[in-house]
Amino acid sequence: MPERHSGTTDCADPSRPPVADKQHFSRLTFGPGEFIFRAGEPGDAAYIIDRGAVEILGGRHESAARLALLGPGEMFGEMAAIDQLPRSASARAITTSTLLYIDALCLKDLLQGSDPVVQYILQALIARLRKRGDYSGVAVHPAATAHMRPGGNLHNQMLRTLTVVSDLSHAIQTHDLELHYQPLMHLESGRIAGFEALMRWKPASLGQVSPDEFIAIAERSGLIHQLGAWMLHRATREWSDIRSCCPPVPDHPPTFLSLNFSAPELSRIGLADILEWCINERNIPANELNLELTERLLPQQEYRNDPGFDIAGTMQQVRNLGINLALDDMGTGYAGLGTLQQLPFSSIKIDKSFIQKITTCERSLQIVQAMLLLARALGLRSTAEGVEDEATHRKLVELGCTYGQGYYYARPMKKPDIMAWVCGQPVGQVATYPPSESPVTSGVEGE
Ligand code: CMP
Ligand code: MG
Repeated sequence: MPERHSGTTDCADPSRPPVADKQHFSRLTFGPGEFIFRAGEPGDAAYIIDRGAVEILGGRHESAARLALLGPGEMFGEMAAIDQLPRSASARAITTSTLLYIDALCLKDLLQGSDPVVQYILQALIARLRKRGDYSGVAVHPAATAHMRPGGNLHNQMLRTLTVVSDLSHAIQTHDLELHYQPLMHLESGRIAGFEALMRWKPASLGQVSPDEFIAIAERSGLIHQLGAWMLHRATREWSDIRSCCPPVPDHPPTFLSLNFSAPELSRIGLADILEWCINERNIPANELNLELTERLLPQQEYRNDPGFDIAGTMQQVRNLGINLALDDMGTGYAGLGTLQQLPFSSIKIDKSFIQKITTCERSLQIVQAMLLLARALGLRSTAEGVEDEATHRKLVELGCTYGQGYYYARPMKKPDIMAWVCGQPVGQVATYPPSESPVTSGVEGE
């Protein structure tokens, strides 16, 4: 805590109103020659020099050798704040210095949100620095670095991430991935409206890896571009067969194929060209394709603002081709209503966390109702994800939701199974729910 230091805080002025984050981000002032901390002390914060100059000393006293001289903008004290071991050196103000205090807990939160490989590398680098010069005088307790060693938590997570990246990259090249298809039902008519293609991967080395896990790792590692291209080619090729089971029904839009894309992929220049090539090559009418874009990744400013990564422009190009766009997992991210205002979506998909409570929780029902009202007002179609029982289905019909998707209608199935399932449905008639027995499914959990 800043109060432990003899330095005075800017927040100490009683005439100022209290600041909520005082302890986490206050400024501290130290006089010439004053120690900010000494080697061997516990490290509860890192510092950034706002004004003044600070020297790092290789020992606990003024007479210790100077290791570094730091000025405005530079950070120090990050080692103990990150590895939670005692201070490796001392820090002393040379002139009157104002420092920005960064609480170790805040750094810990930031780090824990980052990739385990990045965390591991950072911790390994700090451990290496300590080996080369540590003046804490405290032998490093083995338990403190246990999570870094083979078998430790962080080591395991780092290894798992890198193994997934390597094996997934190989699986894409050898086509060792599968697509399963889950139907979306048109709620008013009871007809099959379309199918969402879902990726499945069962690497021999790792056992089953959930799509949530490998897609998140692919997004972080950049592998998502190859994965997306693989999915697009495979799905559009298989669609040629699946669509033959879905003859057009007069006065109804064609049955569609929905593909999940992530914001980083959409930000790639040239995606619209690839899509155009696919639909021409496979002879697929553009309005049979729907791209689902998860709300989770949309707010990331680096994709939005970088002129080289023009999501809005690519989305418009995709829409100009005649392909539809759905805002996926609506309600789970931080995209906000500005997303619907600025980006050319044609439908929304309401996340299952809301849908699955609409018959038991009044607040969830109200939220879903409000989302449906919003969709209707904006002229967007709506899909309810995760419909698992008749009561939820009936409620959604009553609320006027356009499509329903979930185990109540069907689980995701491989291409032959979904084709057999479609053939078992009453063509052009209202389906009865639950629909006729699904053929053997893969037993894989759906999304
Ligand atoms: P920490 O160990 O928390 O506290 C002492 C800080 O001094 C340390 O973090 C680094 O920020 C800094 N430090 C340690 N060794 C050196 C060095 N050799 N050169 C520059 N800065 C150092
Ligand atoms: Mg989806």
